[in-house]
Amino acid sequence: MRALITGVAGFIGAHVAEAKVRDGWQVAGIDDLSGGSTANIPEGVEFIQHDCCQPLDSIFARFQPEVVFHLAAYAAEGLSHHIPNFNYHNNLIGTSNVLAAAYRANVRHFVFTSSIAAYGHPTDERPLTESTACRPCDPYGVAKYACEQHIAAFHAYYGGPNYTILRPHNVFGPKQNIADPFRNVVGIFFRCIQAGLPLPVFGDGSQSRNFSYIDVVAKCIAACAEQTQARNQIFNVGGDEVMTVLDLARCVQRITGKDTGIQHLAERQEVKHAIADHRKVRSVFPEVFEAGLSIEAGLEQTAEFLRQRAIPKKTSCPAPIEILDRLPPSWRDDLGPQA
Ligand SMILES: NC(=O)c1ccc[n+]([C@@H]2O[C@H](COP(=O)([O-])OP(=O)(O)OC[C@H]3O[C@@H](n4cnc5c(N)ncnc54)[C@H](O)[C@@H]3O)[C@@H](O)[C@H]2O)c1
Repeated sequence: MRALITGVAGFIGAHVAEAKVRDGWQVAGIDDLSGGSTANIPEGVEFIQHDCCQPLDSIFARFQPEVVFHLAAYAAEGLSHHIPNFNYHNNLIGTSNVLAAAYRANVRHFVFTSSIAAYGHPTDERPLTESTACRPCDPYGVAKYACEQHIAAFHAYYGGPNYTILRPHNVFGPKQNIADPFRNVVGIFFRCIQAGLPLPVFGDGSQSRNFSYIDVVAKCIAACAEQTQARNQIFNVGGDEVMTVLDLARCVQRITGKDTGIQHLAERQEVKHAIADHRKVRSVFPEVFEAGLSIEAGLEQTAEFLRQRAIPKKTSCPAPIEILDRLPPSWRDDLGPQA
């Protein structure tokens, strides 16, 4: 079997590639390296440096994948308010471009990583299920939800490819990008620890999330094209354990043995509690969840991976800022003269 993975040099894409190579598949991967690194790409994967928004037919014609895992995206949810055009171009137009190329090349299954951001602000205390109404509240979430709708409408009109949409959330683990100051709280915390800096926490840190170790997430994504119950379905995917951002900060400091302090920043407009229900994904992939790690155990694995690595230089925003209003002051330094 042949799989093409977009975003293969990124965190989740690299783990999905590893799983498919382990399954004995032939794997090719596309990435423009705007946020990933070739060091992440597992052995045995054919790598093509390419932008998913550019023509793709020659890549598809040469490799002839049966399954596409489309993970390429710039996943900075908070920053997407300030780079909406870039966000929609990269995430929505990129997805439409990859799907159209996949269809023209007779790909049989299209796997897409959406996000819990598709739900927006929860309207009550209950965990978000796949039937909870989606009301995304930032351009990243809007793009993910639009991609989901596009993939389903495309399938209804053209009769293919079959698809599986996954909504992961707050995934962390080895190979995660810790150099981007605008996304992934776990990565930001680890980078600060390495640099001896206090951990930045927006508001009082009582925001809560299901922080999810990569293992379960990557295995579900990798397995879904082979699972008939996952055909043309949407799944939340991640761990059930809930932690506040402040407890996460303390946990990272405990595990690394480095108390660099906590810097409380002005609260920002964000979803306060994002907790997902995983009964649907667990019922289809029960064996994957049996070996799932707790947040603390996953953070230990992450710390171990990072221990042997140098502190990366912070990366810059991949696009010029389009709207400066309401930009959290703490991000201005990282944006340089434009902010
Ligand atoms: N990490 C999470 O917590 C999380 C949560 C929900 C959804 N997701 C989704 O999962 C997917 C993978 O996320 P990740 O955490 O591995 O992010 P990542 O940044 O580590 O990986 C994304 C990869 O896509 C590449 N890329 C971006 N734009 C591209 C383009 N136009 N053409 C080619 N390559 C491009 C980047 O270089 C990077 O290597 C994304 O679609 C993201 O939105 C991630």
